[in-house]
Amino acid sequence: MRLSRILHLLDLTPREAWRLLRRRLPVLRAGPAWTADELLQSAKHVRGIRYAEHLLRHEAIARRHVGWKQLDFAGRRVVEIGCGPLAGYGPLAVFCGAASYQSAEPEWSGDLFFSEAVTSRYLKVLHADLTALYGERMSFPEFRTALRERMLIHVAPFDAAPIEGPVDVVLSQSVLEHVFPPEAVIDKLVAIHGPATRHLHLVDFGNHYPTAHAFDGLYDQDPDAYIRDRGKAINLLRVPDILRLFQSRGLPAVGIPIRALDVDPVRVSSWWRRYETDDLRIQLALICVTGSGVS
Ligand SMILES: C[S@@+](CC[C@H](N)C(=O)[O-])C[C@H]1O[C@@H](n2cnc3c(N)ncnc32)[C@H](O)[C@@H]1O
Repeated sequence: MRLSRILHLLDLTPREAWRLLRRRLPVLRAGPAWTADELLQSAKHVRGIRYAEHLLRHEAIARRHVGWKQLDFAGRRVVEIGCGPLAGYGPLAVFCGAASYQSAEPEWSGDLFFSEAVTSRYLKVLHADLTALYGERMSFPEFRTALRERMLIHVAPFDAAPIEGPVDVVLSQSVLEHVFPPEAVIDKLVAIHGPATRHLHLVDFGNHYPTAHAFDGLYDQDPDAYIRDRGKAINLLRVPDILRLFQSRGLPAVGIPIRALDVDPVRVSSWWRRYETDDLRIQLALICVTGSGVS
């Protein structure tokens, strides 16, 4: 591990450092179990309304690029890959009337999600924020009951989860870059896909370290060596690789670059030169299936 990464660990709380290290240790992979305090003190996790912000932004971008029609969750079967410890898009989908919401999240704990602390300091705030944004669709007690009745989150990798299709909507937020093996996840997506299934996946192609540049170290060596060196945290697929995986299995996915950064050509090792520079530059992208079915 390089000095800059060791120094970064010193900025974190002991638990955050342990979580990050565990994710990079091939034998352990999963982080330690989440605690309510840890989640509620995290500036990122505590803001459940960020999923509405993600959705508004992603749909606006997709509308501009591929004529994406706004998702309507009412009566829909919604699936999310890797929703995270606070159920990701689940509360939003249920609040907006989804018939069902399923996710597969290896780090899920229903006891934690429905605990008193998460209910009072996360779900109540989220309910107020969702009401402000989407209108008075249900009271807080109705919301809590709907979450219990309509959300089903499997403690499993997505490809092993007993989710059956066809489903209407598939979402993920910064997950496709973390899955191993990615082929198994795409095969599961094919298994639950129907003619009208729509997908919206946000993928972060950066190094996932708080480095000065999101690609620092990423293109210095080939992916196998990178993963050997730093553990199975990211799979290093680029946009064309993900599109090939979807399309080779009949899923008509399109990629929409959201953010492109400069890449220093001197730092790009020979293995990575098989990609167009423009593909190496994409840090954030949406992978969409607009709903025209398996080709
Ligand atoms: C960067 S986190 C994103 C979590 C959440 N979507 C968010 O936006 O905060 C990646 C998540 O993917 C989950 N994950 C990794 N591999 C997975 C797999 N094969 N199937 C389902 N979830 C997976 C991890 O447990 C983790 O919660």
